[in-house]
Amino acid sequence: MKRILIVDDEENVRYSFKKFFKASGYEISEAVNGLDAISAINRHQPDLVLMDIEMPGLNGIEAIQRIKQSHPDLPVVIITAFGTTERVIAAMKYGAFEYLEKPFDVERLRAVVAEALEMKRLSREDKRLEIHPAEMNEEQIIGNSSAIKEVFKMIGRVAASDVSVLLSGESGTGKELIARAIHRFSDRSKTPFVAINCAALPDTLLESELFGFEKGSFTNATQSKEGKFEVAHNGTLFLDEVADMSLSLQAKLLRVIQDGTFERLGSNKTIKVNVRFISATNKNLENAITDKSFREDLYYRLKVVTITLPPLRVRLEDIPLLTNYFLSRQCMLMKKPLVTVPPETLEALMKHHWPGNVRELENLLKRALLLSKGNVISPDLVKSEIVETAAVDHTEPKAFVQAYLPAELGNYEGELYHHVIDQVEKELITVALSFTRGNQLKTSRLLGISRAMLNDRMAKYGLGSPGK
Ligand SMILES: Nc1ncnc2c1ncn2[C@@H]1O[C@H](COP(=O)(O)OP(=O)(O)OP(=O)(O)O)[C@@H](O)[C@H]1O
Ligand SMILES: [Mg+2]
Repeated sequence: MKRILIVDDEENVRYSFKKFFKASGYEISEAVNGLDAISAINRHQPDLVLMDIEMPGLNGIEAIQRIKQSHPDLPVVIITAFGTTERVIAAMKYGAFEYLEKPFDVERLRAVVAEALEMKRLSREDKRLEIHPAEMNEEQIIGNSSAIKEVFKMIGRVAASDVSVLLSGESGTGKELIARAIHRFSDRSKTPFVAINCAALPDTLLESELFGFEKGSFTNATQSKEGKFEVAHNGTLFLDEVADMSLSLQAKLLRVIQDGTFERLGSNKTIKVNVRFISATNKNLENAITDKSFREDLYYRLKVVTITLPPLRVRLEDIPLLTNYFLSRQCMLMKKPLVTVPPETLEALMKHHWPGNVRELENLLKRALLLSKGNVISPDLVKSEIVETAAVDHTEPKAFVQAYLPAELGNYEGELYHHVIDQVEKELITVALSFTRGNQLKTSRLLGISRAMLNDRMAKYGLGSPGK
């Protein structure tokens, strides 16, 4: 029989709860204030606590903090007549399972109690995933599958040399993480690792970022500046989303890779650097070569060694490890007690297709942790999150816009809006065209713009051949 502890200073309140729950087959014990509750918990080992807030001695908010310290898995449901904002927030923050305000529907109370007891049951399963404190180090690469172990081996093989490495893999598979690991395990580990995202910057800005510039070389170049090639001298330069680089920049990059020399914009002084190149893409570069948007000679320079990162769905056996890692790290960051994950939850996670790979899993677990009740990540919570995340990834547009906000933006004063909007427009038209398989009439209808405008934009962004 499940035991409920009722904590309230008013006897008639305790009496009516007692009557109600006894009739439903629960065993009841009582306490008259917070301190009394703590000793009653030790004596009676209840499965659930129903507690008032306003009580003499130790009040409900203080009591819940103490209870959660000694019994983190014991669900505490707060029932009160006074639901001020501060109290509701405080109670939830300290780990209340639910906060019910009087008057409430008894069926609601019954449902909350049943739900809390179910959480407690889930958290007790022998086979649950015990979350253990993970190393806080953000650079850890987690995985035990044979697919990810092949990646570890490759990191070891290429680390000692200076060969250019191309990392390919779907979005969120860990390309940047692996790039950093290659650098860390290389002889260059004490020198800079410099990353640049070729898709996040418009062409001219990317060029000045990479090559640097001399004072006066363009409007707003009020000071000379080192480019990333120089900053990465003796270290590693990570070219992220390299497929998005324009053809003219690709030609310039090729020269730097071949002989390590270049000039800053507005200068004819040749600079020589020693840089190890790692690049990444989630596009198929061979297709890009076929449709002439990527130079073949550059491709061979970049991919002396290619490491292909496996999508999460082919290494589902890593999900428990990754789940443990992300949840424990997040609990520590949020200073929350560690949670438990019942086997049903892991099963639900392992059924998902994970189009957004490890990043999708990480974000889903962060949200699930915030919404979790009673220190348990329940299967229902994960299931509802999976449906939502499959539809849209809200993080991408934000990340995209934020990529435009480095200090250098002073150089783009008066043009920033158009730079950003152009990038979005290009992406939108690309997606619409691929949806209609290149049918321009359908594309213009889909977008709700004229064919003339569509043609104009396609020409502007170099998308296919307008008018076809
Ligand atoms: N094996 C792993 N172990 C731990 N964390 C991982 C692992 N793989 C990826 N991550 C985490 O997942 C997130 C996405 O990884 P990362 O940014 O490296 O992916 P990406 O392949 O560069 O994605 P995109 O193509 O979208 O840029 C990061 O927070 C990263 O730390
Ligand atoms: Mg990346």
